[in-house]
Amino acid sequence: MPEKEFSFRYDVCAVSDLSAEEKHLLQAAADALRTAYAPYSNFRVGAAALLSNGQIVSGSNQENASFPAGLCAEGTALSAAASLHPHVPIQKLAIRAQSPKKVVEQPVAPCGICRQKLLEHETRYRNNIEIILMGETGPVYRIRSAKDLLPLSFTGNVL
Ligand code: THU
Repeated sequence: MPEKEFSFRYDVCAVSDLSAEEKHLLQAAADALRTAYAPYSNFRVGAAALLSNGQIVSGSNQENASFPAGLCAEGTALSAAASLHPHVPIQKLAIRAQSPKKVVEQPVAPCGICRQKLLEHETRYRNNIEIILMGETGPVYRIRSAKDLLPLSFTGNVL
């Protein structure tokens, strides 16, 4: 029986290894998490999207008393970017997280639904989104494309 394997490469680096543009985007994501509305989990997430026109559009998680109605930071940023700049692709997306319980020392990766939303954006604009992850401190993960995070994905190509 044929067996297939999936693997992907990503960079594990320090902030000092990043370009000035990437550092700025990580700071924008840290700024964005201050706008989180997270009274239920108290877990704050900020996302900052760098568009191909150089603009940055940010988002944060917006929770709801009906928990499934809440929005993740990535989804908020993607929706804002596509609504404000419908013809401009996202080049990079930085994601930061903060918890009152403990210092977030590791990058927080996008949830499954956000991976699907990121993939839709890549498909729609025919471009890869570089994803830059960092907690409050600690290493930075740099991932080349949302596709890497969602193998065997479902896309509109089959519809
Ligand atoms: N959250 C995000 O904003 N992004 C993710 O990728 C993971 C989770 C938010 C949703 C919720 O408001 C809180 O983090 C705890 O799950």
